[in-house]
Amino acid sequence: SIPLLVDCDTGIDDAIALTYLSTHADAEIAGIVSTGGNVEVEIVHRNNLVLAKLLGIAAPIARGADRPLVQEPMYADDTHGPGGLGHAVPPAQTGAGDPRSGAQLWVDLVRERPGELVGLVLGPHTNLALALEIEPELPRLLKRLHVMGGAINHRGNTGPTSEWNIAVDPEAAQQVITAFTGAAQRPVMGSLEATEAVRFTQGTLDRIVALAARTGHPVATILGDALRFYFEFHEADGFGWMAHVHDPLVAAHAVTGDFASTRPLAVDVELAGTLTRGQTVGDELGRWGREPNLDVLTEVRAAEFVEHLLATLEAGLAR
Ligand code: BDR
Ligand code: CA
Repeated sequence: SIPLLVDCDTGIDDAIALTYLSTHADAEIAGIVSTGGNVEVEIVHRNNLVLAKLLGIAAPIARGADRPLVQEPMYADDTHGPGGLGHAVPPAQTGAGDPRSGAQLWVDLVRERPGELVGLVLGPHTNLALALEIEPELPRLLKRLHVMGGAINHRGNTGPTSEWNIAVDPEAAQQVITAFTGAAQRPVMGSLEATEAVRFTQGTLDRIVALAARTGHPVATILGDALRFYFEFHEADGFGWMAHVHDPLVAAHAVTGDFASTRPLAVDVELAGTLTRGQTVGDELGRWGREPNLDVLTEVRAAEFVEHLLATLEAGLAR
């Protein structure tokens, strides 16, 4: 199975991704780093610890940095609820997790398993940027990096042109992209044009609510209550009764290589723009004369993916 280090800001769709990974036979969660983003790092860390306990994830869970590299923190409790898991009321946290910093966990795990570990960033890139300061060889030690982030030929979901995970810490994202340029395998980026193809409907929500009723699994209950909030947010934001569920697609593609194609593209992060800071700019026509540095997800098979996700959760949470 594939050992993964998951760096996430749990977060409703992060929680679904973690549950998916913990129940997929081909995935091994080797470590979790909690990063501030959707909610404060302390709350993200609590959510990760609680979910890991309920899912039987034994991997180290380290608390990451509590603020972005340069700019002030921002949070999305309108999107994910003040506790990060919508209407869900998770049980109390037990234990404090791994004593190492998030950056140190990245470095230690990649050194322990050189050439094997797959990195999966589902939140802002702060901890990975800090890890690169400790271990500049990290891009050569990691098997491959997969990130959810960016909006290339697509509007943003945070600023008009910027996507949340990049907008929270644009410097970190830019440093990561730069450090991985020339890596043996180009990092895979699932940006909004790919992840917004995944639309949960009432039918999807019904399957998760039914799973909770049938199994009594506390994580199924948490995901159902979390998703209801996510639907309410999307409806209030003008999208109708549905939810864009971003992180699980990137997780599933990292594990299976399935459900989307990739295309190579030279991408960079705008740091200076007064209107466009945090935008991921893709050089479609090769004007920069640079080699492609990312493999961008495209041609998402969304219906197939949602069925795979639900079937994996249904099998994994049955008891
Ligand atoms: C990303 O932002 C977060 O709110 C989600 O968890 C996802 O990682 C989508 O822009
Ligand atoms: Ca996330």
